[in-house]
Amino acid sequence: MSAQPPEQDYQALIAAEGAVWGAAARDLAAKWRPDWADMQRTRHYAVVDGRHIRQLLALVQLGWRVLEIGCSSGCISLEMARRGAHVEGIDVSAEAISIAQAYAAEHPPRGSLVYRLADINRDPLPESHYDLIVALGVLHHLIDVRAALERIRAALKPNGLLYVSDFLETPTVNALIVGAFTLLLPAELSYRDKIRHLLRLRTRAVERMKASMETRGFSPFEGSGRHQDSLQAVRGLFHVEWVHIHNAFVRPVTANLAMPERLAVLIGQLLSPFDELAVRLRLLQGLSYKLIARRA
Ligand SMILES: C[S@@+](CC[C@H](N)C(=O)[O-])C[C@H]1O[C@@H](n2cnc3c(N)ncnc32)[C@H](O)[C@@H]1O
Repeated sequence: MSAQPPEQDYQALIAAEGAVWGAAARDLAAKWRPDWADMQRTRHYAVVDGRHIRQLLALVQLGWRVLEIGCSSGCISLEMARRGAHVEGIDVSAEAISIAQAYAAEHPPRGSLVYRLADINRDPLPESHYDLIVALGVLHHLIDVRAALERIRAALKPNGLLYVSDFLETPTVNALIVGAFTLLLPAELSYRDKIRHLLRLRTRAVERMKASMETRGFSPFEGSGRHQDSLQAVRGLFHVEWVHIHNAFVRPVTANLAMPERLAVLIGQLLSPFDELAVRLRLLQGLSYKLIARRA
């Protein structure tokens, strides 16, 4: 468990967390509608996570009660509600929630959909209530992952499902590979600046690359839960039915590409089979995991 900041600091930090993610949601919504129909064409989903989101969507049954934690601007919650589920999307970002609400009001789904501001570190959840709880890229932001998972477990109906997508540690070799691709392929920095940085940082460049891959410092709680081994914590509290470890380098390499989206998607799709093979043959460790677990 990470150290808990004093109450006053916590309130300021969680407000800042919401503000950072609100700005990110606003920037994203300026380019892409918060709708799975559009979002699945972005490099992140088209290259890395799209098939897992489709797998998650295929789980959702008509009439299910579903909670999405850290729903941001809501495209996955909306898509689950379109499948006839009764969905609640929660997030600490008021701005992300209001983008989600505005879009859903214009595109009402078949099921029901409520977005609300809530903090999974603190706010209570109803007991034995949900058929499915979804946490995509959020556990690594939590100050006490195990305590949150205990409350998530209590909020699921007996036999209810948990779907998690999150990150593992970043091995040095992965950082070296991502660094090499970032050096070779067009990125935000010019080639001259990239070489300059490399000469200046030397061996510290690897640590810098790791920090950039983990987006350390991006928001106040970015990475708070990263060292708490969320995968192990889920295994200790739930019956894990399926787990997939993947993405040795393709996600950060693709994210760093400075080029039109379609070209970035193409390059990511060309690299993906090599990434998958390297993880399957255990030549490289995956940086991300997905899992489906059941409340026993
Ligand atoms: C990395 S983003 C992931 C967003 C989205 N789930 C996705 O996969 O694109 C993390 C999200 O979790 C939210 N978040 C962070 N801490 C939270 C908390 N304690 N309770 C609820 N949401 C939180 C952030 O505001 C942000 O929208």
